[in-house]
Amino acid sequence: MARPTVAEIRLSALQQNFQALRDLLPRSTGILGVVKANGYGHGAVSVARALEAAGARMLGIATVDEGVELRRAGIRLPLVVLGGVDPPQAEEAHAHGLSAVLFDRAQTGYLARAAGKAGRAFPVHVKVDTGMGRLGILPGEAAGLLRDLAAERGLRLEGWMTHLSSADGSAAADRECTREQLRTFTEILPAVRAAFGENVAAHALNSAGILSHREEPFDMVRPGIALYGCSPLAGDAGVTLRPAMRIVTKIVSLKELPDGHAVSYNRRYRCAGSRTVAVVPIGYADGYRRGLTGQARMAVGGGTAPVAGTICMDHTVIDVTGIPGVGIGTPVEVMGEASLSACEMARLCGTIPYEILTQVGARIPRVAVD
Ligand SMILES: Cc1ncc(COP(=O)(O)O)c(C=O)c1O
Repeated sequence: MARPTVAEIRLSALQQNFQALRDLLPRSTGILGVVKANGYGHGAVSVARALEAAGARMLGIATVDEGVELRRAGIRLPLVVLGGVDPPQAEEAHAHGLSAVLFDRAQTGYLARAAGKAGRAFPVHVKVDTGMGRLGILPGEAAGLLRDLAAERGLRLEGWMTHLSSADGSAAADRECTREQLRTFTEILPAVRAAFGENVAAHALNSAGILSHREEPFDMVRPGIALYGCSPLAGDAGVTLRPAMRIVTKIVSLKELPDGHAVSYNRRYRCAGSRTVAVVPIGYADGYRRGLTGQARMAVGGGTAPVAGTICMDHTVIDVTGIPGVGIGTPVEVMGEASLSACEMARLCGTIPYEILTQVGARIPRVAVD
């Protein structure tokens, strides 16, 4: 039997989430679906195809290699390398029709040289740092960069963007920080329009921005996590999002252990009375985090089975005492509606659902179920 642990991917859920966000926005607002990091762990190619079919205007990846993978799979939408393009990969990126995020004036030179060699302009999205303090030119550099771009025929300004640092926060200070970032972004736009016209797509809102700051969505939005069915907000998202990934496996070993018997490394779990324990083939090397030890549960045969003892690299033991009809080969839901969502897992181990989803291991096959 092949290892029975798989991540079921519901592309219909992804498309419904796309539509749910679409319905929050004016019809003219484009959607750049963020599919970096292997489509947030869901499988970049199938996610990209589903978003292309759903009507995405562009897709966002982190690296040139991620973009090349999508081009090779036949994705035709504009692909924006959000992490920027380094000099050694500029020609390759251009040859595959990728657009580069430009976050430093020094990047114009080598991107234009790659364009010159190919004989066609390199599409770029200028990123302005309005408060994130990560990638992006500072607002005071915008005028100079606009002059550089006007003088440089090798680059075609396709987008003008910023990234929000705190749109997921509901505290007054977070909301004010987001408003301030959006104000700063808005102030620069007339100069961009004056120099390059209306065809430059202005974009700023990530999922949290769309859900809680969409008064001005600009020309395009850039959702990631919400497409995959998780809300980045602590409170009500105001929209129904369906998780696009469910992880399932099967029991590979089952036994009765007597009262007081220990389970797994360091004997952190002791049987209180006789217990039925089952072993399932998923562990922290698959992204089932060790920090869930003592906290997580799985769903088995209509019942709930708590994790018993330390989560191992390749296996986890669950306590299935009293659940009827359980045997070797019984299906187990590890992540999903009946067990724990990615958001709940994230809460339990003090992280965010992005980390849970992107760390679902490479040895778990992603299987499209619709
Ligand atoms: C530049 C950029 N835009 C948009 C996104 C999507 O963010 P989210 O998944 O929070 O919607 C990301 C993700 O980190 C990003 O880096």
